[in-house]
Amino acid sequence: MILVTGGAGFIGSHTCVELAEKNHDTVIIDNFSNSEPGVIDTLNQIAKRQIQFVEADLRDKEKLDEVFSTYDIDSVIHFAGLKAVGESVSQPLEYYQNNVTGTLCLCEAMQNHGVKKMIFSSSATVYDSGNDMPLKETDILSCTNPYGWSKFMIEQILKDLCTADSEWSVVLLRYFNPIGAHKSGKIGENPSGIPNNLMPYITRVASGKLEKLHVFGSDYPTLDGTGIRDYIHVVDLALGHIKALEYTKHHKGAVAFNLGTGKGCSVLEMVAAFEKATGTKIPYVLDDRRPGDLAVCYADTTKAKQILGWQTQFGIEKMCKDSWRFESQRK
Ligand code: NAD
Ligand code: UFG
Repeated sequence: MILVTGGAGFIGSHTCVELAEKNHDTVIIDNFSNSEPGVIDTLNQIAKRQIQFVEADLRDKEKLDEVFSTYDIDSVIHFAGLKAVGESVSQPLEYYQNNVTGTLCLCEAMQNHGVKKMIFSSSATVYDSGNDMPLKETDILSCTNPYGWSKFMIEQILKDLCTADSEWSVVLLRYFNPIGAHKSGKIGENPSGIPNNLMPYITRVASGKLEKLHVFGSDYPTLDGTGIRDYIHVVDLALGHIKALEYTKHHKGAVAFNLGTGKGCSVLEMVAAFEKATGTKIPYVLDDRRPGDLAVCYADTTKAKQILGWQTQFGIEKMCKDSWRFESQRK
């Protein structure tokens, strides 16, 4: 059985659907700090399979011990964490406490119960801003905010664990920019309040909930002056976890992989692609740069292709269509 922490969230829920497709039994732990309980019922409908669920915070050691005692867990996919970059700057302790302490509690419980396989949700944000593009797994790591440092620290903790005990197998997945949604339109990304990220902002402009998009920076050294990112369909990302899980069956130690498409897309290209794919109009204004943003960020995906045998299937058009389906079906 696979334990999925944060399985009610955006990427975790899509991964649970793909795990069910491959007949894996799963148990989710989530405290709903950034998701809704209703997701669990929806997941069971989509997956046509009973997914076990425990409402708990990862830092609740007793509950965690109970979960490992109750279920026959052999691997863990660890999504649970706080992820808002700006919030992490104003609330660093909360971020280190939740992300780092949560992971330590999880690793201790795993160790106590002899479970030594983990897939961890890391981020492209662990790469130093001075690296050339595309980013390779061997590039220099450094961060600019507490959220990023929490990922960096967790990567280090997991590497140290693998050094201390050669039985451990850990895959560090460095995600680029996940967007899109399950084809049913029933699960997707639904941030509360005003979205920080580009795609949820665009879909809310398209549905009339927000008036216009603010394009953060139009003077970057890029083709159209706007920031370039590597957007990846969340289902492609979810499938990367299945490949990583297979990998842990035959390999020990800690290894990092980029999960992206390897292709960059600018903000204005995304706006145009969204309008074309959905027939909607996205009014926008060109605004100042957002502090801390990079001009360009995209992945070298060679390692995941060669070693995991994983590559993305879905392009920007499908990402836009699926994001829009989820938003337009949302009540
Ligand atoms: P999400 O917020 O939708 O999902 C995270 C889930 O974890 C939520 O359901 C939340 O309730 C739960 N959670 C948080 N802290 C918890 C705790 N202490 N105990 C139990 N449950 C807890 O986020 P997501 O977009 O699905 O991201 C999943 C992971 O991937 C996170 O670790 C995030 O940092 C990482 N990541 C996300 C992105 C992105 O752009 N979405 C990019 C890079 C990395
Ligand atoms: N952008 C806008 N307007 C908006 C929101 C975003 O123009 O309202 C622009 C940004 O300036 C950037 C691009 O759209 O050029 C993408 O921005 P996002 O906020 O969607 O994504 P980021 O690349 O800034 O950050 C995301 C996650 C981080 C993660 C990082 C790398 O939010 O948590 O990807 O994985 F660390």
